[in-house]
Amino acid sequence: MVEWVNGSGRDGPVIELVNLCKSYQVGEMEVPILKSVDLSVKKGEFVAIMGPSGSGKSTLMNMIGCLDRPNCGQVMVMGKNISRLSDAELARLRGFEIGFVFQTFNLVPRLTALQNVELPTYANKKEGIDSNRRAKELMDLVGLQHRINYKPAELSGGQQQRVAIARALINDPSLILADEPTGNLDSKTGNEIMNIFTDLHKKGRTLIMITHDPDLTGYADRVVHLKDGVIGAT
Ligand SMILES: Nc1ncnc2c1ncn2[C@@H]1O[C@H](COP(=O)(O)OP(=O)(O)O)[C@@H](O)[C@H]1O
Ligand SMILES: [Mg+2]
Repeated sequence: MVEWVNGSGRDGPVIELVNLCKSYQVGEMEVPILKSVDLSVKKGEFVAIMGPSGSGKSTLMNMIGCLDRPNCGQVMVMGKNISRLSDAELARLRGFEIGFVFQTFNLVPRLTALQNVELPTYANKKEGIDSNRRAKELMDLVGLQHRINYKPAELSGGQQQRVAIARALINDPSLILADEPTGNLDSKTGNEIMNIFTDLHKKGRTLIMITHDPDLTGYADRVVHLKDGVIGAT
């Protein structure tokens, strides 16, 4: 059976942000969004990041997920300072260490559910892994073994998000990063997705979930608030 717990034996933080800042250039203006963010997430933690719409949560997720580089400060992933990595090295690190779950699922419409789960392995594949078999096991894990050949449009929103979670797990990442994963779902379906995250957490996975829904923070070990571009704990 597929492992819920990632195999990495490394201690120390999975993610560490030190004095991070990010601004966007809008016309002539430099607009600061993140202004000195410090955040450290340990292996096995489930951290919720909260903040109102427009507070910079997705910008922060892009930094944590190495989808974008900061203007200043440091992003450390599994102890590696990403500023020292080339774009190709960064893409590999992202592919192996981070699994993404988005509000809008972001599945590829013309691929089947199973092919979507397997997709990240086309770019980054661990040696000796039978990715087709692992994708099937992960579809089983999220309760969709009977839907492997369905296209995203033939699945409900909750089912699409389950496929996205399976996809996020395919390379056995150190960290699952979810940006408002239940934002497009009704509350019952949202709770089902949260139950999957809770199970992953119980089995030792490290999770960072961004949300603006206070009802969801009860699932997390720790809640951090993003306000005016700075992080404050509760
Ligand atoms: N690429 C961009 N260029 C300019 N401004 C941006 C860009 N991306 C986001 N922003 C601005 O940064 C702020 C934070 O956005 P975002 O991180 O998406 O917030 P949240 O996810 O908390 O709703 C918003 O004011 C948004 O307009
Ligand atoms: Mg957002």
